[in-house]
Order: sequence, then structure tokens, then C-alpha cells
Amino acid sequence: TAYKLLLLPGDGIGPEVMAQVKTVIGALAETGLATFETETDLVGGSSIDAHGVPLTDAALARADAADAVLLGAVGGPKWSGVAYDIRPEAGLLRLRKDLGLFANLRPAICYPALADASALKRELVEGLDIMIVRELTGGVYFGEPKEITTLPDGTKRAVDTQVYTTGEIERIAHVAFDLARKRSGRVASAEKHNVMKSGVLWKEVVTQVHAEHYSDLALEHVLADNCAMQLVRRPKQYDVLVTDNLFGDVLSDVAAMLTGSLGMLPSASLGAVDDKGSRKALYEPVHGSAPDIAGQDLANPLAMIGSLAMALRYSFGLGEAADLLDGAITDALAAGARTKDIAGEGVNPLGTAGMGEAVVAALRSR
Ligand code: NAI
Ligand code: MG
Repeated sequence: TAYKLLLLPGDGIGPEVMAQVKTVIGALAETGLATFETETDLVGGSSIDAHGVPLTDAALARADAADAVLLGAVGGPKWSGVAYDIRPEAGLLRLRKDLGLFANLRPAICYPALADASALKRELVEGLDIMIVRELTGGVYFGEPKEITTLPDGTKRAVDTQVYTTGEIERIAHVAFDLARKRSGRVASAEKHNVMKSGVLWKEVVTQVHAEHYSDLALEHVLADNCAMQLVRRPKQYDVLVTDNLFGDVLSDVAAMLTGSLGMLPSASLGAVDDKGSRKALYEPVHGSAPDIAGQDLANPLAMIGSLAMALRYSFGLGEAADLLDGAITDALAAGARTKDIAGEGVNPLGTAGMGEAVVAALRSR
């Protein structure tokens, strides 16, 4: 069967890195391990230019009907003047919200060939492979009330509200434990139950989900501030790390710095499993549209190609094809393939297309 993939290249370097994904999809089809039917549509600034909105209802309907969505990046200085509601990023936010993508998976992998590009010493990060599972649709970014009011003395008062329900915590906990079962079997859950009621509930619910469904796995609770420290002190102690929206935002950026370049980091955002056993999913690089290097064949396509590998694994259950592609990325790096962002001194870097070709060559020789 051919899976249906919607490609939303977006703006800036988005279309450049997406072009390399198309090449990889072609090479995967030759192996017989994975065949896709692809459609392409607009998102972000390119959609504003064509339709006046950053995501059309038609594009959203296509995303909803697809088995998975791959997105490049949105935004850029060209659209800095458009109204807030129709800015390029609003297209991405609408996709996440309307598809109900509550679980954000951000792997932090340190390839041995790139360990010297990490913010930490080689021995601390070499072979690092953490999966951060961040709750994406709840918590303090969305809780009400959310307002700034003026007090009688003329000064102001700002309120954000951290809200979590049992159901929201349960479903993200299930995502984390299910992932851990296929990995090392270890989950760390980060919150601040010492000072936050939402942390008390978070810890209680994660503990209960563990006891009821995953008692064969190892669960550790860690305070989020200590977790930030541990990520820098001894990051390899973690495998799956589950946390809320705010702490996840911060901790995943800390973890990102352990791995080298922004151009290397893929992500997945998953929705709930429906009664047919399938789930909505969006895969995208962590980086943005990089207007400073757009159109110059300088972008590193590995975050985008790695996002395709995540789609193979998490949307289609094609573990063999995902391993092949992840292995091809590792091999290409080990053989010395570098784009400028990861090249270091004295290395003659490849362009975007050259890196895509290096991955395809490595894939074919596996
Ligand atoms: P950015 O991630 O686009 O770029 C930050 C720096 O990293 C730049 O120097 C860029 O050249 C470099 N970089 C990023 N991706 C790279 C790659 N694949 N290969 C090599 N170098 C890479 O973040 P920035 O500059 O803050 O934002 C630029 C635009 O992107 C803005 O309009 C922003 O709103 C948007 N953005 C979109 C995101 C998305 O679509 N999910 C996420 C982050 C930013
Ligand atoms: Mg962030």
C-alpha cells in the first residue's frame, strides 16, 4: 500500500530541504521498503502570497486526510508587516491546533562524527540519544485567565495560568511510556511538584499510568530545574524525558545545544489514536526558514530528512525503512559529508543538494 504524505515546503529554506526529502522518498521506493503517494500544498508566507491566508481550508482538509504531513518551515522578513492573525506562523499554529497535535517528540541525538560540535565535551555527549516528549496543547501557554490588567495605582498586573487535567497528563504519559517500551525502557518525568499544584497532579497521574500499564518499565521523577542541570552535567543518564509545555520548551532547547547544529534536529507532533488505530501527525525540522541563507544551497537538509525518518517510524510503523534512513544519515556523516553549519574549519562543505545526494548514496550502499 502507498501511504499518503502531504508535503508543505513553506518558505525560505523550507522548499530547499523538502526537495531533498523528495529525492530520498524516490530512493526509498527503489528499496521496496516504503512507497508514498505525495501531494504538495502551500503554508506560511507562500500561502499568504497566493491566497491571502497562511493556511487555506483546502490545505487543512488535505492535511486532515493525509496519513502524515511533512512541513519545511514558515516565515521571513517579507511578511513581517502582515496582520498578527494571518502571519506565516499562524498557519503552523492552526495545523497543530486543528489536527489536535498534543505530543511533541524532539530527539536529541549526538552523532559520533559531530561530537566535537556539541556545547559539551565529547565524552559527555558522544552517542547521546534522548527523546524529549513535550505536552504541546495545554499548560501555561493556553490556560485562562491570561491577561494584563491595570491596578488602581496605575501599575499593571499580568496573569498566565498553568492548567492541566488528568486526561491531558494521561495521554502524554502514554505516548512517553509507549516510546520507552521500544527503546531502553526508562522514562524520566520532569515537573515542579514542590511549588506547583499542576506539578503535584502531573507526578500523581504519571505514577498511576506507570503502575497500571507500564510497571515493567523504569520511571524516575525529577524536578524540572534539576533536570536542566542534569542535562548539562550528565545528559546520557536520560532516555525518554516527558514534561509539560513550558518546561518542555526550555529543556528541549537545552538538549538541542548538546547535539551540534539546528540543521540536524527533527521533530514530530502527534495527535490522539482514533478508533481505527491511526493518528494525525506532523513532522518538521526544529529550525525555521533561515532567510539569511535561503536560496544559496547552504541549508543542511538532515533535520528535514530526519523528520521523514520519524514519519516512517511513528506514523507508518516502517521501522526497517526508518533504521535504513537513520543509518544512511549516520554513514554519510561518518564518511565526512558536511554542510557549512557543521563543517568546522578546513573542511570543504557540501551544498544542500550535495548532502541529500550523500544520504541517498549511503542509503543505496547499505
Ligand atoms: P532559524 O531557525 O530560521 O535560523 C536560525 C539560525 O540557524 C540562522 O543563522 C540560520 O541560518 C541557521 N539555520 C537554521 N536552519 C538551518 C539549516 N537547516 N542549515 C543550516 N543553518 C540553519 O530561526 P530564526 O532566524 O530565528 O527565524 C527565521 C524565520 O523562521 C522567522 O520568520 C521565524 O519566525 C521562522 N521560524 C519558523 C519556524 C517553523 O517554521 N517551525 C521555527 C522557528 C522560526
Ligand atoms: Mg523553544
